[in-house]
Amino acid sequence: MNNFVFYSPTEFVFGKDTEMQVGALAGKYGARKVMIVYGGGSVLRSGLLDRVKQSLQKAGIRYCEMGGVQPNPVDTKVYEGIEICRREQADLLLPVGGGSVIDTAKAIAAGVPYEGDFWDFFIGKAKVTEALKVAVVLTIPAAGSEGSGNSVITKVDTLQKLSLRVPELLRPVFSIMNPELTYTLPPFQTACGIADMMVHIMERYFTNTQDVEISDCLCEGTLTAIIKEAYRIKQNPGDYGARANIMWCGTIAHNGTCGVGCEEDWASHFLEHEVSAIYNVTHGAGLSVIVPAWMTFMAGHNPKKIARFANRVFGVPESEDLEEMALAGVSRLKHFFRFIGLPVNFKELGIENPDIDRLADSLHRNKGEFVGNYVKLTKQDSKEIYRLAL
Ligand code: NZQ
Ligand code: ZN
Repeated sequence: MNNFVFYSPTEFVFGKDTEMQVGALAGKYGARKVMIVYGGGSVLRSGLLDRVKQSLQKAGIRYCEMGGVQPNPVDTKVYEGIEICRREQADLLLPVGGGSVIDTAKAIAAGVPYEGDFWDFFIGKAKVTEALKVAVVLTIPAAGSEGSGNSVITKVDTLQKLSLRVPELLRPVFSIMNPELTYTLPPFQTACGIADMMVHIMERYFTNTQDVEISDCLCEGTLTAIIKEAYRIKQNPGDYGARANIMWCGTIAHNGTCGVGCEEDWASHFLEHEVSAIYNVTHGAGLSVIVPAWMTFMAGHNPKKIARFANRVFGVPESEDLEEMALAGVSRLKHFFRFIGLPVNFKELGIENPDIDRLADSLHRNKGEFVGNYVKLTKQDSKEIYRLAL
C-alpha cells in the first residue's frame, strides 16, 4: 500500500426533506450572501429552487442567482458567474443540480479571488491558493462532485475538456442529498450516473499497487451494491431505498474512500473527456462505450485485475486463463450497461465515424506522451482503444 493523505471534510446531510436545512447550514458556515447556480430548468420545474430560496430567506441569508448551466459545462458560463459573484459580493457558492452545475460553481469559487484568467488553473499556469466556499444541493447521483475536490470545464474556443483538482479548497463544505429529488430523472440520466460512479471506482480499482485489500474490497462491495440497486431502480424508479443507496454510492465512489493507498488510473476518463468535448455526449454514456474497450485492451496486456473484477463483481468462474476470464467480465459488463439503456460502442452513442486521429491527438496534447497507470498508454494504444469502441 502506498503512503496517502485522506482528507474529506464535507458534511453530508442525507435524506428526505433535507433541502429545507440549506439556510441553517449556510448560516452555520458563515454565509451572508450566497450565489445559487443551477442548470437548464429541472430545479424550476420540480419546485426545488423555490424551496431552497424559502429556506435561505427563513435563515435571513440573502442570495443572487445564475441559471442556464448546460451539461459538459463551459468556460463562458464561468466568466459570467465570476462577474455576477463579484458584483453581488456573494461569499458562498450554492450549486443546486448535478456535476455540471457544481463544477461551474467550483470554478467560479476559485476564479473570484484571482486577478488573472481562471483557465490558468486548468492548464497548470497558476495554482489555486484561495477560493470561496462551495456548498451543494445534489439532484443527480453521478459525477461525485458533491464530495470531490475536482471541477471539469470545457473551453469553448479550443474544445479542451480539462479537470482541476484542489481537494483542500474545492471540496464542498456541506452537501445536501435527498434521494427523493432524483425521482424526476429521465431513465437515461439515471443510467449515465450509474455508469459514471462505477467507473470512478474502477479507475481506482484497476491498479498495480500491491497490498490494497481494503480498497479492493471496498471497490468490489460498492460496485456489487450499485449493480444490485440499479436493477431495483429499473424495476421501480420510485423505490426510495434503491435511490438512496445509489445516491450514497455515487459519493463513496468519488470522494477518495475507494482509492486510498492505490496508484489510480484515470485513462478511461481522459479518453472519454475527449469524446464528450468534441461530440458533446453525456459523460456516463461516453464511459459505457470507452470502458469496455479499455478493459478489452487490458485483457491482452495486463489481465490480472480485470480478471479479478470479472470474478468478484460479475461472478465469472475462476480459471487459469486470465485473459479469457477478463473478456468474459467485459462481456457481462456490456450486457449490464445495455440492460440499463446505455450504449456500448460509438455507433450506439450516435457517432458513426469518430475522428480517431483527432481524439488521440487531442488526448495526448492535453495529457502528455503517456496516459493512465495500469498500463501507460501511448498514442498508438489510445487509437487502438478508440478503435475497439467502434
Ligand atoms: O440542467 P437541468 O435542467 O438541471 O437538467 C440536468 C441535465 O440535463 C438533468 N438533471 C439533473 N438533476 C435532475 C435532472 N433532471 C431531472 N431531475 C433531476 N433531479 O440531468 C442532466 C445532466 O446533468 P449534469 O449536471 O450534466 O450531470 P452529471 O452529474 O452527470 O455531471 C456531468 C459533468 O460532470 C463531469 C462530467 O465530465 C460532466 O461534465 N465530471 C465531474 C467530476 C468531478 N467534478 O469530480 C468527475 C466526473 O468524472 C465527471 O468528469
Ligand atoms: Zn466520471
